[in-house]
Amino acid sequence: MSGLPDLAAVRKLDDADPLKTLRNRFRLPETLIYLDGNSLGALPIASAQSVLEAIERQWGNNLIGGWTKDDWIGASRRVGSMIAPLIGAQAHEVVVADSTSVNLFKLIVAALQARTGRSTVLTEPGNFPTDVYIAGGVTRLGQGHHLHKVPADEIVESIDEDVAVVVLTHVHYRTGRKLDMAAITAAAHAKGALIIWDLCHSAGAIEVDLHACDADLAVGCGYKYLNGGPGAPAFLFVAERLHATLQSPLTGWMGHQAPFDFSDDYVPARGIDRFLCGTPPILGIAALEQGVATFDQVNMKSLAAKSESLFSLLLEWVEASCGEHGFELITPRDASTRGSHISFNHEHAFPICQALIARCVVGDFRAPNTLRLGLTPLYTRFEDVWRAVVTLEEIMSERKWDKDEYRKRGRVT
Ligand SMILES: Cc1ncc(COP(=O)(O)O)c(C=O)c1O
Repeated sequence: MSGLPDLAAVRKLDDADPLKTLRNRFRLPETLIYLDGNSLGALPIASAQSVLEAIERQWGNNLIGGWTKDDWIGASRRVGSMIAPLIGAQAHEVVVADSTSVNLFKLIVAALQARTGRSTVLTEPGNFPTDVYIAGGVTRLGQGHHLHKVPADEIVESIDEDVAVVVLTHVHYRTGRKLDMAAITAAAHAKGALIIWDLCHSAGAIEVDLHACDADLAVGCGYKYLNGGPGAPAFLFVAERLHATLQSPLTGWMGHQAPFDFSDDYVPARGIDRFLCGTPPILGIAALEQGVATFDQVNMKSLAAKSESLFSLLLEWVEASCGEHGFELITPRDASTRGSHISFNHEHAFPICQALIARCVVGDFRAPNTLRLGLTPLYTRFEDVWRAVVTLEEIMSERKWDKDEYRKRGRVT
């Protein structure tokens, strides 16, 4: 194929990859080219066994005793502490709980309550919908708050003394653009505002250092790069310096200082536990624990380096072989300003994505016209990227995407 190296040359890149054995931690169908780990991570080999163990031995044999014997009660903190090093946090600053959406709600309300007298929640238009919807929902609770949206490039200058909290996604779900966490956090602090970072597309994909950036609060999901499985529980981060002052508005019993006192009076737990709400989803956490364990002994710097190489080769090959087919790159080229997926706008993005999937190349589509390909450095091979581009070229040059069956949209696109 014109402009592309031959497969033997690409396989040499995989042979030389110091991270190549990490793929063995996952169950990936042999014929599938999976470029969607940024939506749903692959199944870690250890997960099925671990969930089965939690069901059969822990639940089956130990029943209610599992809360103590199998430390179910400590699961949210235990797995939170495993996530902590991946995002530059201390073990006691991260807890697994609820969904990203619910965690956003808890942290936005907590931040507003800690900044009384200020009325603005600041975000960017086109942020992930749940972030905008939850922030909007909070401002409609009748406390006189309002949501203000300004483009990411204008965020810093838009933070003033009325801003209570800034809510931003670190790596944008559509474009893959990465915001400057340190600079924006510093700008928020300079005006006395708090900041919440959504790490859904960062955690486990790129290097994140919440402490180096002096971040206040963060949320993220468990099912993308953390490989926790469909609907995996999410996590939240609260910097230790805020533990004593911030309070969750969802004052469930698991956030109580002594849940088993069964007292009528709510007293928040001292540390991050106060951001727990109800009973933790033990089976979901069992899967997430194995998902996060796939990062054992893995250095985030080397993962980031591999993600960069995958990205630049994919882009080089798409430009060489599909240059005339109308793809518009919307992800920044500069590695320091992007995450680990690559996105192209194309007027026929939906049928193109379906045609790829029909040929076992799984990426995803984001309305109205974005084709998104996730590069998961734990298990994506250079050969996968090469095969994906070869398939894309074939679909484009022969208009194989142009079929009614590829235009049908289901509930999930
Ligand atoms: C940036 C971002 N935030 C939040 C979510 C989803 O939140 P939840 O897990 O509550 O559905 C996603 C899902 O793709 C996302 O990309």
